[in-house]
Amino acid sequence: MSWDSLRLARLGLPAKLMITLFLAVVGPGYLFGTANILLKHQAADLEPGLGLDDLRRKFHGMEKTITPDAKITVHSKMLEEVLPSGSMREYLEPGGEPAIRGLITWLEGGANQADFDRTGLAAAGDPSARQVLAAHCVECHHADGGDMEDVPYAAAADAQPDYALVIKEAQPEFERHASAPQTLTLAPTSVSSLVHITHAHVLAIPVFTLLVGVLFLMTGLGEMVKLILAPLPMLAVLLDIGSWWIARFSEPFIYVIAAAGAVFGASYALQILCILGDMWLGRRRPDPAA
Ligand code: HEC
Repeated sequence: MSWDSLRLARLGLPAKLMITLFLAVVGPGYLFGTANILLKHQAADLEPGLGLDDLRRKFHGMEKTITPDAKITVHSKMLEEVLPSGSMREYLEPGGEPAIRGLITWLEGGANQADFDRTGLAAAGDPSARQVLAAHCVECHHADGGDMEDVPYAAAADAQPDYALVIKEAQPEFERHASAPQTLTLAPTSVSSLVHITHAHVLAIPVFTLLVGVLFLMTGLGEMVKLILAPLPMLAVLLDIGSWWIARFSEPFIYVIAAAGAVFGASYALQILCILGDMWLGRRRPDPAA
């Protein structure tokens, strides 16, 4: 099929406006997706900043040797939930900086029993972990009919948080040794969460990639340019998602994941720019069919 009769520059104002607004939504949408990845995975390799090791850890698993004084982030389920990207953060926020710092410092430090009641762990005047949990979490996370009675931190809504209950969720993913360097085996993402993210991505991304691709084919660019640039984002999506699974068995595929992400971002942005430019600034060549 030829796209000659379906040229963007020939569309009427309503169609142009609608397409422009559509692109205004799905273009930045990609940026938000990337920002989400940065927030969620950047500490997968225990160090801040997103790098290849984060992908390696997430999709393949890795070994890492840490020295006793290395500055690393030790994860726990509770920590993930109260970091800025976590779903429990909103409940912690009313406590302000002192409560946030108090709980997170305790969790990052390994959630020791000895420090559970210690106030001012990071800064003078910060509440202890027990006080923060009592003030902000126990109302739902208590065993006596709370919203989250399956994951209780105290026996009842007005009871004190109990270390033995709290540590089930606050348990760091590994123990740090104070004296010697240690080698950790960091497992990749579980199969169930990989199924979950595959499912979440495999339905949405190809649909808007296809729509943007079709609009791109409606530009007045030459056939050769279209042949190369049109399928590129979709190819990148296929390689990206496919490699999430293949990388579990074959480590080099983490490079494919990284490269596919970059190729997707660049080619998708280029397509959007071409569409906008051609639609609003392109010359209306006479319709060859007319
Ligand atoms: C208004 C009720 C409520 C408050 C307050 C609350 N939570 Fe939760 N919490 C929930 C619910 C509901 C879930 C399960 C659904 C979800 O993950 O969003 C949950 C899940 C969790 C989980 C994951 C549990 C699991 O095993 O999957 C953790 C960890 C957690 N909360 C910690 C906290 C911490 C720490 C606080 C205090 C800063 C807190 N919650 C405050 C209702 C609450």
